[in-house]
Amino acid sequence: MPETETLREYKNPDYVNWDELGFRTIPTDYMYVMKMSLDGKFSEGKLIRYKNIELSPSSGVLNYGQGIFEGLKAYKKRDGRILLFRPEQNALRMQTGAQRLCMPSPTVDQFVTAVKQTVLANKRWVPPPGKGSLYLRPLILGTGAVLGLAPAPEYTFLIFASPVGNYFKEGLSPISLFVENEFHRATPGGTGGVKTISNYAPVLKAQIRAKSKGFSDVLFLDSVNKRNLEEAGSCNVFIVKGNIILTPPTEGTILSGITRKSIIEIARDCGYQVEERAIPVDEMMEADEVFCTGTAVVVAPVGSVTYHGKRVEFKTGTQSVAQRLYRTLTSIQRGVVEDKKGWTVEI
Ligand code: COI
Repeated sequence: MPETETLREYKNPDYVNWDELGFRTIPTDYMYVMKMSLDGKFSEGKLIRYKNIELSPSSGVLNYGQGIFEGLKAYKKRDGRILLFRPEQNALRMQTGAQRLCMPSPTVDQFVTAVKQTVLANKRWVPPPGKGSLYLRPLILGTGAVLGLAPAPEYTFLIFASPVGNYFKEGLSPISLFVENEFHRATPGGTGGVKTISNYAPVLKAQIRAKSKGFSDVLFLDSVNKRNLEEAGSCNVFIVKGNIILTPPTEGTILSGITRKSIIEIARDCGYQVEERAIPVDEMMEADEVFCTGTAVVVAPVGSVTYHGKRVEFKTGTQSVAQRLYRTLTSIQRGVVEDKKGWTVEI
């Protein structure tokens, strides 16, 4: 294992209440760091103590937003072994995002190896089975100095980790969404389809406004027709109409979620007809169910959506499609059932 610092244990996870994890940063022992240059040269990746990083005030990421991130989770099985879920998909998505932002990116093998090393170095922070997961946050940051608008000359690939539980304060209970009319998340030809850091700050204004009114998250509409569903601030969206499950297509303005992709496949295996097509907001308001998917949120049932002052409630609970898909997905992720798809990677 490449390393600069002797692996020592720094803090004690004993202070963590595994039953009340939520989704916030709990500092762990180590992070992974690798330097990359624009002409494709890579330093040897290193595990170093988790700490603040030093950045040039003139760095590309601080001045021009040249940065992307990923999110994936490691789960502890009952037998103590640790599983990652489709890490190569994160590696590939990161490569696509890096290309869009003119940044170098690690190979799939470098990425997956780095993730595994980060998990192993922080092994004692992986929550016990059924209590949550270790969330890995890989980043590529333009850390080289640049003043005129241009790609930064140097990049840092960094992975940090934090134990997490449920994303929404509602836990596994249904969330409430507010359909945003004023702001949009993405535009055609923009970067909505990749996980650039700059896709997230513009969401905050709408999100804070909605949260102050008691909503869990905001649902964005497309910026051209102001009519079709795009995604929520933190996750993708699906609707259910009888045996048909619908989700907006990822055609540049919607993030190509790995949970989204997995749920589409699982739903088809379960006999549902899944369609990726434009969904007018009015069609959602007449659906049987609405649910959200994402690495952080997993599968979140939506109890109500409010649009133009009208609040509509949707079916949730143990008999819902969302619950069935949640159970199937998480059983694979946690290694509770046999992974016939080859999605999990044991560390
Ligand atoms: C994830 O689901 O992993 C994300 O990166 C979304 C983020 C808003 C927490």
